[in-house]
Amino acid sequence: MCGIVGYIGNKQALPILLQGLRRLEYRGYDSAGVALVEGNQLRRERSVGRIEELAAKLKGTESASTLGIAHTRWATHGGVTEENAHPHFDCKEVIAVAHNGIIENYKEIRSTLVPKHTLRSQTDSEILTHLIEEHYHGNLRKAVAAALAHVRGTYGLAVVHRDQPDLIIVARMGSPLVIGMGDAEYYIASDPSPMLAHTKRVTFLDDGEIAEVTRSGVHTVTLMDEDVNKCISEIEWDDATAQKQGYEHFMLKEIFDQPAVLKDAIRGRIDLEEGTAHLGGINLTDDQMRSIDRIVLIACGTASYAAMIGKYAFERLVDIPVEVDVASEFRYRDPVINERTLVFAISQSGETLDTLAAIREARRKGAIVRGIVNVVGSTIARETEGGTYIHAGPELAVASTKAFTNMVAVLLLYAVQFGRLKRVTPTTGRRILTEMLEIPKKISIALEQNDAIRQIAQQYSNYSNYLFLGRGMNYPVAMEGALKLKEISYIHSEAYPGGEMKHGPIALLSSTFPVVAIHTKNALYDKMESNIEEVRARGAKVIAIATQGDDRVHEIADEVIWVPATEAILEPLVNTIPLQLFAYHMAIQLGRDVDRPRNLAKSVTVE
Ligand code: G6P
Repeated sequence: MCGIVGYIGNKQALPILLQGLRRLEYRGYDSAGVALVEGNQLRRERSVGRIEELAAKLKGTESASTLGIAHTRWATHGGVTEENAHPHFDCKEVIAVAHNGIIENYKEIRSTLVPKHTLRSQTDSEILTHLIEEHYHGNLRKAVAAALAHVRGTYGLAVVHRDQPDLIIVARMGSPLVIGMGDAEYYIASDPSPMLAHTKRVTFLDDGEIAEVTRSGVHTVTLMDEDVNKCISEIEWDDATAQKQGYEHFMLKEIFDQPAVLKDAIRGRIDLEEGTAHLGGINLTDDQMRSIDRIVLIACGTASYAAMIGKYAFERLVDIPVEVDVASEFRYRDPVINERTLVFAISQSGETLDTLAAIREARRKGAIVRGIVNVVGSTIARETEGGTYIHAGPELAVASTKAFTNMVAVLLLYAVQFGRLKRVTPTTGRRILTEMLEIPKKISIALEQNDAIRQIAQQYSNYSNYLFLGRGMNYPVAMEGALKLKEISYIHSEAYPGGEMKHGPIALLSSTFPVVAIHTKNALYDKMESNIEEVRARGAKVIAIATQGDDRVHEIADEVIWVPATEAILEPLVNTIPLQLFAYHMAIQLGRDVDRPRNLAKSVTVE
């Protein structure tokens, strides 16, 4: 939700800022802007639309400035206009602010500012510049701290002043802010991806901290002006993994990354001798793990479907009740949790505000809270007392793919690890984990269907509605398939458990309403076959995801997409792949912007 970048050093700032914005474009892409401190001038350019529109506007601009901030916006308050694009100026146009987050009391503050200040936008963010202006008497950090004392809400903030050519002030409350350490140069961003090409040494600002970033160092204090000693972390991603590497879209590249990154998720975590998994990051002894009597999985979007698969796996292998909660609901009901409840927050970005708020609530109620997160050093990773990184590498397409499969893999490993302390025998554990090691290869086999899926998409892109059906663990897979399709192709699609279809959605079916059925060889195969017969009887076309070698499926399906057979509990890892490719090719057929679908942002750091 909005991305901030900043640079201070000895290189030209503008190309670094534009490149940084391109990397953060997944966070928002309504409008963008840049502000540079140059001599004793503050220069700004803003533009509605993608970063490339801003870059086009700046083409030919020569700027020697070595200090600047920039912003890419996902609108919350105020429409998509140039006036509402960041960075915002104060009245005298000497202070520039780039803000990510929401200032909840901006209306009250705005009314106190209006008599004395010229406000030029409809945003909540602009009030920050005027508040800083009010408090500025030569010390920018103190002015920012004084301004922030008035605001309620969330912010990741970067501030520059025309008269301070060796200073960027950054601050954080609820919205991420990372500082990359170079040699007499510093990079600022909402996440580490823009700085990977320059440095891997970063420090993450915590809530309630303000930092003065100059060419000679970073000085961090709290809002109460107490000094803070920050640790430096090393980011393990390299810049190449954040590139398209010859693929037309990040989404396609990330779909094809899956065999490799799944290996990264399971590497070193499987113990075949004992038939168990070792996810040491859980930070619990075996006895503590045995004493847990409930597991709650909290997530949003795609991560919540990974969580649903986790629920099936935990219930099957661990024999304790498991709930899946969408984070935005969890925090506003009164969930029954206590110190014997283990809560997992599952999040690719580790920054989703609803998930973060939910785990804070769970912790307040005494639960044991752990994270299953992709972005190293992200807020959820830091606010949990342990957990596991999914090692999917940078995921830059808005629609999540490889993070989903790696989340599922880690949840399955946890289910085996917990299960071995309960009812799973070493033999069963060994059987599942031996097959888990085969999954990267099986995903590669599923990916071989790419051309066949493209052809199916060519025939099927004109339908306006789709129903996805699955049963058991393939029901959440169907939900993820339907979500992928609607997110990037804008075709209406919904998912139902196969057996539940007759209780409502069957009324929708006709020759213009195709069904995608996950119909692989498992214990529910015959049940699913009956459901597909019900679909056919209503004249709807059927696209089936089926197990290689299943000759019967041709009798009931119009199109078949093949996947290799695997252990029932591992099927979601393989069966999701064709659904990701199906959504991708449908979106391509319809000329959609696959990596940047309308209205969506990858990291949702507002409520
Ligand atoms: C947004 C994204 C989804 C993502 C969800 C949760 O809605 O568009 O793709 O699944 O946030 O994100 P997280 O980073 O917490 O996994």
